Amino acid sequence: MCGIIGYIGKPPVIETILDGLARLEYRGYDSSGLAVLNGQGLYVCKRVGKLQGLREALKGHAFDGHIAVGHNRWATHGSPSEINAHPHTDCSGSLAIVHNGIVENYAELKARLQAQGHQFRSETDTEVIAHLVEEQAKRAPLAEAFRSALKELRGSYAVVLLSTSEPQHLYGARSSSPLIVGLGKGEAFFASDVPAILARTRRVIYLNDHEMVELSSAGAKITTLDGRAVTRRSSLVSWDLASAQKEGFAHFMLKEIHEQPAAAEQTLFNRLAQDAGQLAFDRRTSGFLSRLGAHERLVIIACGTAYHAGLVGEYMLEEFAKIPVVVDLASEFRYRGPMLDRDTTVLAITQSGETADTLAGIRLAKTQGAKVLAICNVMGSSIAREADAVLYTHAGPEIAVASTKAYTSQLTALYLLTLHLAKVRATLEPARWQELAQGLQRLPTLLQRALATERPIKAIARRYAAARDFYYLGRRYNFPSALEGALKLKEICPRIHAEGYAAGEMKHGPISLIRKGWPVVFIATDSPIYEKVISNVEEIRARKGECLVIASEGNKAVARHAEALITVPKTEELFSPAVVAVPLQLLAYHIARLNKCDIDQPPNLAKSVTVE
Ligand code: M6R
Repeated sequence: MCGIIGYIGKPPVIETILDGLARLEYRGYDSSGLAVLNGQGLYVCKRVGKLQGLREALKGHAFDGHIAVGHNRWATHGSPSEINAHPHTDCSGSLAIVHNGIVENYAELKARLQAQGHQFRSETDTEVIAHLVEEQAKRAPLAEAFRSALKELRGSYAVVLLSTSEPQHLYGARSSSPLIVGLGKGEAFFASDVPAILARTRRVIYLNDHEMVELSSAGAKITTLDGRAVTRRSSLVSWDLASAQKEGFAHFMLKEIHEQPAAAEQTLFNRLAQDAGQLAFDRRTSGFLSRLGAHERLVIIACGTAYHAGLVGEYMLEEFAKIPVVVDLASEFRYRGPMLDRDTTVLAITQSGETADTLAGIRLAKTQGAKVLAICNVMGSSIAREADAVLYTHAGPEIAVASTKAYTSQLTALYLLTLHLAKVRATLEPARWQELAQGLQRLPTLLQRALATERPIKAIARRYAAARDFYYLGRRYNFPSALEGALKLKEICPRIHAEGYAAGEMKHGPISLIRKGWPVVFIATDSPIYEKVISNVEEIRARKGECLVIASEGNKAVARHAEALITVPKTEELFSPAVVAVPLQLLAYHIARLNKCDIDQPPNLAKSVTVE
C-alpha cells in the first residue's frame, strides 16, 4: 500500500528515486510522483498511472539535486489523479510530504487548518500533514514542527518530509506503517521496504512505531515522539539484489513460482536434520516452541493466501499434533471479540509482516494474555518484531502481487511446526514421525518435479483462456488448495470470475450454476476420500461441466473422469497442497498471460496491505 522512498546523498537523485520507486511499484501503481530540491526550490512532478509516465515526464530535465522524496500511490482517500498523487505540499510550496497509511482524523484537522487560512488542493488525507507542519513551523524549528504535527495524527502513517528550509535533512516517522532507514557511503535512504535500496546498501535500521528520524547523508538521529533520543544499531540484510530482480523471467510471478523448491529448501535448512531425525530452531523460537507444546489451543490468523496456508495448517496440526486449532481471517478476528487466554497461542501467518489486519490481530491477542508466534518472511517487519517468537520462512523477497513462493514456504514452516508439536506432545509413533519427516525432506524435490507440469499447463491454458467463469474444487487438505487456486486466477486475471469450494459443498447450492463447458478445476490427488472426490467430479460432468483434474502420478484410472488431466508427484496427503500449488499457480499465470493481463501488478491491488 503505497511505496515511499527518500534519498539524501549525491546527484543524480532523480534516477535514484525512480529506481527505488521501480522496486516499490508492487506496493501501489495508480500514480506516482517525486519532489526534489534543485537549488532554486522544490520541484514537484506527478503523473497518473504506472511509473513509466513519471519517468517520461522527467526525461530531458537538466536539473538535479542531492535530496529528494518519491511515492507510488495506492489510492485510499481521493481517486487516482495528478492532484491526489504524492508528494503533497504546503501553501507556500516549500515543503513536501509523502505518506503511506490513513490519517483517520483528517477531516477534523482539515477543517481547523482551513479555518486558519490554509488552502487545500487535493482530496487526500495526506495533505493535512503538510499544512500541519507548515502551521507548526511558524513557531518552531522544522524538527519540532514535524514532531508536533505527528502527535496530532490518528491512524497509521509512514511519512517523509522534505523542506527547502533544511536542505541537508529529511525527516521521517512511522506508526503502524512500514518505514526503514538505509545507510550507505555518504548517502542515506528512507524506504517502505528493503528491495528499494538493495542496489545501494544492505545496511538498514528498522524503526519502531512513534519514532522520528532526522536523516542526513552522514546518518540517522532517532528520537521518540516525546523527544527522547533512541540508540538503535543497524543490521545487515541477507537478501541480495539478484533476488529482487526478474533475472530473465517475463514476470516476477513466474520467477517466484520457479523459486519454490529453493525457498522450501531454505525454510527447512538447518531445521530438519539431514537424517530427518530431529528438528532444530533458533534460540528464541526454540524456547517459545518448547512451551507451546503444553498450550491448549492454537488460533491461526492471516489474510488472503496466508489464510489459505493457515487452513491447511489446521488440518495437519489437528490430525498429527492433536492440538485444537481455529483459523480466522485477521480482518474478522479483530472485530469479533475472540475468547483468548494464557493457554492460547495465536499464530499469525504473513509474508510481509506488515499486513494491517494481522498486525492488529496480534496486538489484540497480546492484550488478552495470549502468546504470539509468527510465520513471517520479512525480518525486521512489524509483526516479526511484535510477536513473541518467529518461525521465519526463508523465501527471499516476494515482489509479484500474487503470492506463490511465500505460500509454499508458509506450508513448509507449518509442516515443521506440526512435526515439532507432534514430537513434544508424543502424538505419533516414532516410526510414523520419521516417515513424515523424511517426506518433508523430499518436499523441495517434489516441488521441482511439479514445475514440469508447466508444458501441459500451457496447452490447457490455451484451451480455457477464453472462459470467464471457473470453479476450483477439492476436499480435506485440498479444500484450501481450491480456494488458493481460485484466488490466484481472479487476482491476476480480473476479467475472470473464479471461485473455490469444498467439493462436497457443491450440491448445497453452487452446482446450480454449472453449464455446458464450464471449467472446473478438481484437485483429486491421493487421499482417504479420493473416491468421493471422483463422485463429485462425475456430478459436474453429468451437468456438462468440463473437469480439469489434478491427480497423483501413477493414477491410471483417473483419465476417464477428466476432460483434461495434470499429474503431480505422489506424496503423503498432507504435503499435497504444496505440490498442487505449483500447477495451480502456473495455470493462473498462463491463462493471465494469454489474456494479456498485467500479471505482476493487477488493477486495484497492492502487495502489502498496510491499511484496514
Ligand atoms: O503479507 P501477507 O502475507 O500478510 O499478505 C496477506 C495477503 O494480502 C496476501 O496473501 C494476498 O492475498 C496475496 N496477494 C494473494 O496472492
